[in-house]
Amino acid sequence: MSDNVARQLEPALPDLESYWMPFTGNRYFKKHPRLISRASGMHCYTHDGRELLDAVAGLWCCNAGHCHPKIVEAIQQQAAVLDYAMAFQLGHPTVFELANRLTSIAPEGIDYAFFVNSGSEAVDTALKMALAYHRIRGEGGRTRLIGREKGYHGVGFGGISVGGISPNRKMFGAMLPGVDHLPHTHDIEHNAYSRGQPAWGAHLADELEDIVALHDPSTVAAVIIEPIAGSAGVILPPQGYRERNREICDRHGILLIFDEVICGFGRTGAEFGATRFGVTPDLMTTAKGLTSGTVPMGAVLASGDIYDTFMTGPEGAIEFFHGYTYSGHPLAAAAGLATLDVYLGEGLFDRARELEAPFANALHSLKGEPHVIDIRNFGLIGAVELTPIDGQPTARALSIFRDCFDNGVIIRTTGDTLAFSPPLIIDERQIETVVEAVRAALKRAA
Ligand SMILES: Cc1ncc(COP(=O)(O)O)c(C=O)c1O
Repeated sequence: MSDNVARQLEPALPDLESYWMPFTGNRYFKKHPRLISRASGMHCYTHDGRELLDAVAGLWCCNAGHCHPKIVEAIQQQAAVLDYAMAFQLGHPTVFELANRLTSIAPEGIDYAFFVNSGSEAVDTALKMALAYHRIRGEGGRTRLIGREKGYHGVGFGGISVGGISPNRKMFGAMLPGVDHLPHTHDIEHNAYSRGQPAWGAHLADELEDIVALHDPSTVAAVIIEPIAGSAGVILPPQGYRERNREICDRHGILLIFDEVICGFGRTGAEFGATRFGVTPDLMTTAKGLTSGTVPMGAVLASGDIYDTFMTGPEGAIEFFHGYTYSGHPLAAAAGLATLDVYLGEGLFDRARELEAPFANALHSLKGEPHVIDIRNFGLIGAVELTPIDGQPTARALSIFRDCFDNGVIIRTTGDTLAFSPPLIIDERQIETVVEAVRAALKRAA
């Protein structure tokens, strides 16, 4: 890009008043704005032209790096050919091709894709699929949904009901009825500084038996869990935990939903968390990396059994009364196809797996730095947990985020945990740059 073009893309600060920003301290932001006006590969550029290394792939989504030329070209071409086709009762070729390509990389038995526009929509769609599935099979009493403490499943009413993050729930009334929660598995007394899956905690999956016994299996529709929880501070499944989730669900005829919104598309060093853990759920919710963050899109990937169950009744009748105007939007579908080409053509899932060890080594070298109480990693997911400042939860992590930003690196914070989820194209030198920026910030932190 020429300097002139770059300058045009980096205008003076706009008037910030009218935009009500999501999950942001609006008043603080507007006094201390941080605007990204362009991005390329591993880097983002602020409105005033500063270069930043992106250690979180946007928001865990730009797995192929920013503005990958092949994805950009596919979106541009699609925009010129077909802007939109009616999503109900009509279709367009690209979205059928994407469904085939997506299910071809999904675990065996996951053969169908239902498109939505975000992770939150994917979650609400999957929950509705689970409820309707049981009802069609004559088990309409299965209405309970089980989530997990500290789980994040987006911000729809279904997602916050099964989710387990208190601030996301407490302002919004009673939510869905009949929801229960498994305990979370975060325990640094037992598992601090584990590399990969922690050894302690598989037994926590057995709490599902108690919940099921309490309500009776015949009332439980589905369990939804993230293979690795990201938003509540990167919580890894203890060894054997996922397998027990599957066994218990099978024993009681309960559907298992993996929320793969952040784990999908290479983040764990495999196609999906399910692939890496070798445990196949009945439904998988995906978004983010599906289009490498370029065009909003999500997908619920479903087993053949679930799809076949719906495909009864008179032919020509609608089988699932659900969908969105923009389900399978042509631009998103084109972006999704090009993104898959890039992931597979450039071997990015394998690359993430190969980088897992150097990434872990670099992160764990922060052990002993001021305020650090735990370090966790899996695939290209990492977390550094800090002691909170007394009476000011989240403030310390936010100060590290701001220091890193001012020194050329974008990280993310959740509570007092620093989270890392770089694009899969990161190299070892860039991993070092990220870790050294964090180290310097920790040393400077109060
Ligand atoms: C596991 C999980 N599910 C759902 C969502 C919601 O996705 P979206 O923000 O696209 O609605 C997220 C977002 O971070 C997520 O991490």
